[in-house]
Amino acid sequence: MKIPTLILTLALTPFAFAADADSGMELYEETEFEKEINGEMMNDATCSSCHVPSDFTKADRKAENYRGVHWWVNACNQAMNTAWFPEEVDDVTAYLNREYYKFPEE
Ligand code: HEC
Repeated sequence: MKIPTLILTLALTPFAFAADADSGMELYEETEFEKEINGEMMNDATCSSCHVPSDFTKADRKAENYRGVHWWVNACNQAMNTAWFPEEVDDVTAYLNREYYKFPEE
């Protein structure tokens, strides 16, 4: 394969290609961070400190497609200073999508 072809192939690969939903599940459930929730400073907050599964399945959920889920995972990652790497945000997106949203991957 010529180099330009290789670059093109990589560029056209969906970003979810390498995402690992099982690793995303561990990250979602086990990553702890400091956050004040309901007036109480927690140093072992997790995503589940705020979210229940129905947040991701209810009719008026915010994410409308796979990219929307990714956008929100990244937004909460930044707001909580979770400090996940981009690949980890991809993994958590893949996990929430596999369990709850069930959007086609883009
Ligand atoms: C301090 C509370 C809090 C924590 C902790 C939190 N979130 Fe959120 N998250 C929110 C709020 C508020 C929204 C906006 C939801 C709304 O307004 O309906 C949101 C929205 C989302 C959505 C979109 C939900 C939808 O309606 O489709 C996803 C996905 C999400 N968060 C993922 C995460 C992940 C992953 C983590 C762990 C890093 C996390 N959140 C931690 C408060 C939190």
